[in-house]
Amino acid sequence: NIQSFSFNISEFFQNPYPFYEEMRSINPIYKSTLLKYQGWYITGYEETVKILKDSRFHSRPPIPAFSRNYANVRRIQENMMLFTNPQHHRQLRSLVTKFFTPNIINECRPFIEKTVDELIDQVICRGTMDVVSDFAFPLASSVIAKILGVPAKDYPLFKQWTATFIQSIDFTRSPKTLGNSRKVTEEIIAYFKKIIRAREQEPKEDLISKLIGEKQREEKLSYDELIATCVLLLIAGHETTVNLISSSIFLLIQNPRQLENLQDNPEFITTAIEEFLRFESPAQLIARTASEDITVNETVIQKGEQVYLFLGAANRDSRKFQNPHQLDIARNPNPHLAFGHSSHFCLGSSLARLEAKIAIQRLLQKVRNLQAVDFNGHYRKIIGFKSLVELNVTFD
Ligand code: HEM
Repeated sequence: NIQSFSFNISEFFQNPYPFYEEMRSINPIYKSTLLKYQGWYITGYEETVKILKDSRFHSRPPIPAFSRNYANVRRIQENMMLFTNPQHHRQLRSLVTKFFTPNIINECRPFIEKTVDELIDQVICRGTMDVVSDFAFPLASSVIAKILGVPAKDYPLFKQWTATFIQSIDFTRSPKTLGNSRKVTEEIIAYFKKIIRAREQEPKEDLISKLIGEKQREEKLSYDELIATCVLLLIAGHETTVNLISSSIFLLIQNPRQLENLQDNPEFITTAIEEFLRFESPAQLIARTASEDITVNETVIQKGEQVYLFLGAANRDSRKFQNPHQLDIARNPNPHLAFGHSSHFCLGSSLARLEAKIAIQRLLQKVRNLQAVDFNGHYRKIIGFKSLVELNVTFD
């Protein structure tokens, strides 16, 4: 129950929704006095939108400024658009957005289709796979590696880096975990420095070469910003997309009627993806800091206070969505907040949607009788993400 709530309990990671419901019923803008996790917990839809629209709520790197040991991690995080605010954010985002328009992303379609087919071909005779490590991760990895222009063969590295790096943005983690993330960030920086040097000498058609072009043109992008952007895209392009594809397949297995419906009516794929995003939001939590005293629905959030926005809760708010705990692949409209809202709205949303669409569509075309080996999904104990450790399935 909410009085004894702690982010350490495994129940929370497996099924956070009863906790969200209880918090929202007390107050959708809930003040947590838990010593370690003090701040405002936002579980209401409209309240979340209001806060995300208000640029006085700043996005900040999670590593504290005073923490000299982590200065390198902090410097990279400070230059990631995700953790910058109006002026700096606008400048960084406008440089990168032009490479992520839906038209440009659509050019990745043949590569995504080919990769999905190859991954399915590798497991089809076996009749079993772990959706996370045999399908979703190698797909998301190959696609972002191809876009950025880094070798896909390095994907075991990306896997290890992503897992450690996301812990550095987990506010419940211990200094030891932060120490690991420092080591990993330094490895990623060294990795990108080497690739940037090679592309400076011999540009290719990839995103890193294009970003170097932006850097060289009137020094529009600093070296730190260039590296931070590469790191952000590599990490952001992994974790959440893997989670979306794996959770979607798990949800379909748990809801056989909807699985059948989607197999019979493939045109539902577009609304189905939106519903998977709403129902099991891959990014469950994002944070902001009040840059001044701000009143939200008669509640004063004081300057410096932390605000935790539970997107997974907003997306199940019954004041916004009818039958929010019911999966409905035909739900329309579906104004979920899984990609955030306003200025920091996910830059990779078109890419993530396209990958998930092709992956699920092709898998359902090629296999029948999809079953989970273990019906209880096992989710990672990591705050902020709804992330399946593995999903072993069998199929004909
Ligand atoms: C931002 C979710 C896939 C790149 C965000 C935010 C969310 C999000 C919630 C906003 C964070 C905030 O406001 O604090 C997701 C989900 C994905 C996904 C659920 C997959 C299902 C991707 C992919 C890429 C990407 C594939 C890139 C290749 C980014 C970037 C930002 C961002 C660069 C920062 C935008 C900014 O600060 O202006 N994402 N994301 N994301 N996402 Fe995604």
